[in-house]
Amino acid sequence: MGLVSVSEIVLFLLFSLSLGIVSKEIPTTLDGPFKPVTVPLDKSFRGNAVDLPDTDPLVQRTVEGFEPEQISVSLSATYDSVWISWITGEFQIGDNIEPLNPETVASIVQYGIYGLPMTHQSVGYSLVYNQLYPFEGLQNYTSGIIHHVRITGLKPNMLYQYQCGDPYLQAISDIHYFRTMPVSDPKSYPSRIAVVGDLGLTYNTTSTVNHLLSNHPDLVLLVGDVSYANLYLTNGTGSDCYSCSFPDTPIHETYQPRWDYWGRYMEPLLSNVPIMVVEGNHEIEQQAENQTFVAYSSRFAFPTEESGSSSTLYYSFNAGGIHFIMLGAYISYDRISPSLDHNHLHC
Ligand SMILES: *[C@@H]1O[C@H](CO)[C@@H](O)[C@H](O)[C@H]1NC(C)=O
Ligand SMILES: *[C@@H]1O[C@H](CO)[C@@H](O)[C@H](O)[C@H]1NC(C)=O
Ligand SMILES: *[C@@H]1O[C@H](CO)[C@@H](O)[C@H](O)[C@H]1NC(C)=O
Ligand SMILES: *[C@@H]1O[C@H](CO)[C@@H](O)[C@H](O)[C@H]1NC(C)=O
Repeated sequence: MGLVSVSEIVLFLLFSLSLGIVSKEIPTTLDGPFKPVTVPLDKSFRGNAVDLPDTDPLVQRTVEGFEPEQISVSLSATYDSVWISWITGEFQIGDNIEPLNPETVASIVQYGIYGLPMTHQSVGYSLVYNQLYPFEGLQNYTSGIIHHVRITGLKPNMLYQYQCGDPYLQAISDIHYFRTMPVSDPKSYPSRIAVVGDLGLTYNTTSTVNHLLSNHPDLVLLVGDVSYANLYLTNGTGSDCYSCSFPDTPIHETYQPRWDYWGRYMEPLLSNVPIMVVEGNHEIEQQAENQTFVAYSSRFAFPTEESGSSSTLYYSFNAGGIHFIMLGAYISYDRISPSLDHNHLHC
């Protein structure tokens, strides 16, 4: 784990501890400003988090055929637009994997203002990604079909309902809800923003996420280190400390199904509350041809184009009167860097 990760753990712990100690009912930003609350790091947390096993009902696939699963909402750059993402079909892992054809399942969201018919429809795009290891004995992975649909023309601070999927295959999700952000004005803010890092998929994640759910955030910021699929070998054996337990692997392996477990586990929260993610060191996930950040970049929708970024590793967006600039630590911000030479975030 790098420094980034340690600081994220501290942030996460301070956050969750302060929530636990202050009160059950968290005040809104509109009740502030508040004095910052800090709590010393309890080192006994370190290394004692136990992952949910793949037999846990919360991480199992419960849909059939090409019905949507792992549904999530993300913001675009401005209040009038959001992204809906989901996965259809089954991932494969092993020797003779055959990537699914993303063209075979449509990417459609039907939506409307809460209480009105869902007469609006938006069409998006789909993809699959592979995590390939050209080494003897390591297993390759190919994802289900990942769908991303951008909805535009939304009203501010408004509750919408939506269904996603492929109506032609009769593979449509249940109804979910999202509320758009308020207008970008110095007097208008979302009430509650949850900031969390190093989430993982442990029994401690479950208490953190239940706490988030019970406090009804308007937005979740996940500031790096998501599924921790990179604490596993491709055969599904995991460890608290990869380099301690597996010092001799030819490449830092991952077990990509952990991402699917994470998406399933998070769906009850993220299908109704927007999440904005930025990468941490656990998302590097190097693979064949030196590709990195492939699962991270494929699974989440980012307002990359809308904010004038050229990468999923940095972007910006508005949430009411707040302008968030999400600067991941894995891209150069050098003035002479080609990535920023031609592209500037809309600030
Ligand atoms: C995994 O993919 C790599 C790159 O295409 C290939 O070299 C390797 O043989 C594959 N491994 C298995 C077990 O199929
Ligand atoms: C973390 O989870 C473990 C069970 O795996 C539990 O014993 C421990 O109390 C949890 N810690 C916190 C801070 O909730
Ligand atoms: C996975 O590979 C590791 C290292 O070779 C081995 O110790 C472990 O038993 C394997 N696990 C399974 C489930 O095959
Ligand atoms: C892979 O990328 C890393 C970091 O950019 C670089 O140091 C390394 O030389 C590359 N390896 C190959 C085989 O291209």
